[in-house]
Amino acid sequence: MQRHDDLIMTEEQTHSDNTSSTPPAETGVKKSDTGQHDAPTKSERLTVGNLGVAFSGNSAIRNITMSFRDGKATAIIGPSGCGKSTLLRALNRMHDIIPTAKVTGEILLDGENVMQMDAVTVRRRIGMVFQKPNPFPTMSIFDNAVAGLRFNGITKRSLLKEVAEESLMKSALWDEVKDRLKQPAMSLSGGQQQRLCIARALAVEPEILLMDEPTSALDPIATAKIEELIHELKTSYTIVIVTHNMQQAARVSDYTAFMYMGELVETGKTRSIFTNPTKKQTEDYITGRFG
Ligand SMILES: Nc1ncnc2c1ncn2[C@@H]1O[C@H](COP(=O)(O)OP(=O)(O)OP(=O)(O)O)[C@@H](O)[C@H]1O
Ligand SMILES: [Mg+2]
Repeated sequence: MQRHDDLIMTEEQTHSDNTSSTPPAETGVKKSDTGQHDAPTKSERLTVGNLGVAFSGNSAIRNITMSFRDGKATAIIGPSGCGKSTLLRALNRMHDIIPTAKVTGEILLDGENVMQMDAVTVRRRIGMVFQKPNPFPTMSIFDNAVAGLRFNGITKRSLLKEVAEESLMKSALWDEVKDRLKQPAMSLSGGQQQRLCIARALAVEPEILLMDEPTSALDPIATAKIEELIHELKTSYTIVIVTHNMQQAARVSDYTAFMYMGELVETGKTRSIFTNPTKKQTEDYITGRFG
């Protein structure tokens, strides 16, 4: 059973951490100037237009048009099954690996069409942290932190050490693991594993960080650490966080999008969505009248 779980986790990692065979790439961000579209305004880092995802012909999300702003955190909220994870996964091309999935519409990263970019490059530029912490089970803490770099062909020990320390500091885990970096990642608590996964995602210097319910399995202390971290990270990253926790959305996000039955009902500044939503469905959801 455990083995099976490990395999599933590994498969997700495989696609979230650029583990497929790829030519060596630098960790720094490269911007292509081959985008066919007009660049969006500078603050709109990632935009989606009329995005739809269907599985075996059944629509899971449709007509999603919105943008994610640079240096801001956007929360995606909505009842279970409304398509939050499906939207998040579309943003870094995770549906590529599902043969029944069909993605339509447009996703632009700095004006460049994500659907036409190399998928591995997309996942380096748009990192993802999953709901369930998924460190590589057979690797040490250190090796997990630098796994993305190694997959991108970086072997220089001093660089790996530097990036491991920097990423673990950013993810607020360094003090707890600095004396045990060679121990297995699985020796960490769930909350520590989640922060390790965040460090692993940060190590490849993504521009956008997608987080799918990153604290749902964590205790209040670990949750608070991750929320603090989101506050710090958003000064230099664009963050998209799916959460079922309304207080969390209110605490960490600048913008909030409410989804219902595969559609985007409304999006706007978090404060207005929570204090003065324009749609009744949004109001009913945030006040706990349905869900
Ligand atoms: N790989 C898949 N194959 C078939 N259907 C899928 C697949 N992934 C998602 N779906 C369907 O898409 C819809 C949206 O699912 P999704 O996981 O995006 O919801 P969610 O809002 O993240 O829910 P939750 O809050 O429970 O995580 C659901 O009806 C789900 O069954
Ligand atoms: Mg989900």
